Amino acid sequence: MPKDTILVTGGAGYIGSHTVVLLIEAGYKVVVFDNLSNASKESLKRVEKLVNQKITFIEGDIRSREDLQKVFDSHNIDSVIHFAGLKAVGESVEKPLKYYDNNVNGTVILCEMMAKNGCKSIIFSSSATVYGDPATTPILESFPTSATNPYGRSKLMIEEILRDVYVADNAWKIVLLRYFNPVGSHQSGSIGEDPNGIPNNLMPFIAQTAVGKREYLSVFGDDYDTIDGTGVRDYIHVVDLADAHVKAVGKVKNFTEVMTINLGTGKGYSVLEMVKAFEKASGKKVPYQIAPRRAGDIATCFANPSYAKEILAWEATKGIEAMCEDSWRWQSSNPNGYN
Ligand code: NAD
Ligand code: UD1
Repeated sequence: MPKDTILVTGGAGYIGSHTVVLLIEAGYKVVVFDNLSNASKESLKRVEKLVNQKITFIEGDIRSREDLQKVFDSHNIDSVIHFAGLKAVGESVEKPLKYYDNNVNGTVILCEMMAKNGCKSIIFSSSATVYGDPATTPILESFPTSATNPYGRSKLMIEEILRDVYVADNAWKIVLLRYFNPVGSHQSGSIGEDPNGIPNNLMPFIAQTAVGKREYLSVFGDDYDTIDGTGVRDYIHVVDLADAHVKAVGKVKNFTEVMTINLGTGKGYSVLEMVKAFEKASGKKVPYQIAPRRAGDIATCFANPSYAKEILAWEATKGIEAMCEDSWRWQSSNPNGYN
């Protein structure tokens, strides 16, 4: 039975490229749409090797109605998985308008063009950042939301906009996926996370330190109320995350309300636990120094992922060992990323 055609915005990026691999393996037809602002065509070339077929790629911007119309003119899109967006928290504080334009305005235009072309099914990349500083953990989808920076606010705004779109027209099928901390890479080590410049996130920083590109890791604070004083997060393997999108796209047409779903493992690890696990997986030392807390950071964040299991029949299967081993395979075989 021929499967649906899925438009993957931001499909050349980190999570998008992994999702494209799994979608194709599951038998979907995929159209990748990306403006390459934070990705290169090389990731798609690697994806082509992994799935042994050509990827349909359209270079374009979600803020361009013309670019999007080209997609709908040339393909019968059944659903959209919407990864395209900017994600650097610090940059979003310095350039809020850039983030609201790209993320919020871009999503508005994408939805407008979807509706115009009769496609009303969307799976959106939200983030655990919408929970702000949660009063307790594990975090349920019903917890209050808030934002401390324009990036987080753009995610919250988009969630609200999509809910309004559904209220106005119940024909829409909408899934809001709130990711915890995506890490790792495809087990082949041929695709992975390729941050621009100095990584903001923990895992790529650890990996670059282990491979010798960075002298040491700064551990942002060791006086939190956690197991060893360092921040605790719910790291989730990117392939598990990608798999959740495949599950979501298979069920999206059956949903009769806007679905908001946490994607995490339900387990939290501290910064120092991650360092230790990475050293074990890589056989390399990861030197570190304790540094002051990073502004905006919280002590502990991990999901209650039971709703994802109930609704998507999905749960994370890969543990911290696989996350570190796969991340190391990618980092050590591609010390300069896709370049
Ligand atoms: P990424 O930067 O690797 O991928 C995003 C892709 O979108 C890039 O390839 C970029 O070129 C493209 N893009 C950006 N703006 C665009 C535009 N206007 N038009 C077309 N393409 C555009 O990031 P990622 O880590 O793969 O994240 C994917 C999504 O998941 C993002 O929306 C991000 O906010 C969200 N998310 C990521 C994380 C994380 O830790 N990686 C956590 C929670 C949520
Ligand atoms: C960060 C973003 C969040 C975003 C998420 C995924 C901030 C404040 N939050 O979350 O909005 O959704 O990334 O992209 O930027 N750490 C170090 N040293 C480092 C880097 C990180 O000690 O060099 C610590 C942090 O203090 C934290 C943990 O490692 O305790 C994880 O950090 P990170 O990977 O940046 O993710 P979050 O802070 O959870």
